[in-house]
Amino acid sequence: MSLLTDNRYRYGLVSRMFHWSMAALLFWQIGGIVISELFSRNLSWVSAWRGTHFSVGVLILALALMRAVWGLMSFRNRPRALDKTGKWAAYGHMALYGFMLVTPVLGLLLVYGAGKPLVFFGGHLWGVHDPLQWAYKTGDLLHGVMAWTFLAAIAGHMSMVIYHHYVLKDATLSHMVGKPKSDV
Ligand code: HEM
Ligand code: HEM
Repeated sequence: MSLLTDNRYRYGLVSRMFHWSMAALLFWQIGGIVISELFSRNLSWVSAWRGTHFSVGVLILALALMRAVWGLMSFRNRPRALDKTGKWAAYGHMALYGFMLVTPVLGLLLVYGAGKPLVFFGGHLWGVHDPLQWAYKTGDLLHGVMAWTFLAAIAGHMSMVIYHHYVLKDATLSHMVGKPKSDV
């Protein structure tokens, strides 16, 4: 069985690449906001970190779209407990996909609605234009709330992984870490 694809016992290399690269980008993204609340934005390293917010946000959205397509293609071929807990874990993972997709879209609405340009790692995705009230209001109202709720959902996800590993002592963590075995 290919190391790249998922199976009933573990996630393959493609799913793991999406999972861990996006986890790192999300910690960077939310970390940049937290740091700029704690320290002065006049510090060059704080403003440089915060300054990556739009580019990294768009990158997260692009990866989330690709990951969702990959997830749908592998849906029937992923680790899942056959009892009720497997169903709840699947719902939890679907909710995380919802946050991954909706949070950056709301950020885009906020920037577009304000009439501001969007620069993605140096290249303009769009320039200065007329503000769009409904887009600005929607983004302004919901982007931050959604992002903090996403953070809470990630904390819940991590707590469940810790609970499975240290309390239930089952193989959940090994689905996503360690050497993926090809012979199962
Ligand atoms: C999953 C990706 C993203 C996460 C987790 C995220 C997270 C956050 C958080 C936590 C805040 C602070 C909210 C508050 O002040 O309470 C924020 C603000 C903001 N985000 Fe995002 N964001 C993401 C993607 C984006 C994208 C793609 C854009 C637009 C290109 C964007 C634009 C903004 C803007 C304009 C603000 C408020 C203005 C500012 O203080 O910079 N975000 N974001
Ligand atoms: C250090 C932090 C993290 C750890 C230790 C961790 C661990 C894991 C583990 C062990 C699994 C497999 C669960 C199973 O088989 O039922 C998993 C799956 C998953 N995790 Fe995480 N995770 C972390 C961060 C994140 C973050 C930040 C996200 C945010 C999007 C996330 C989203 C998901 C999703 C959606 C799945 C289902 C598989 C997939 O569709 O990729 N995880 N995680």
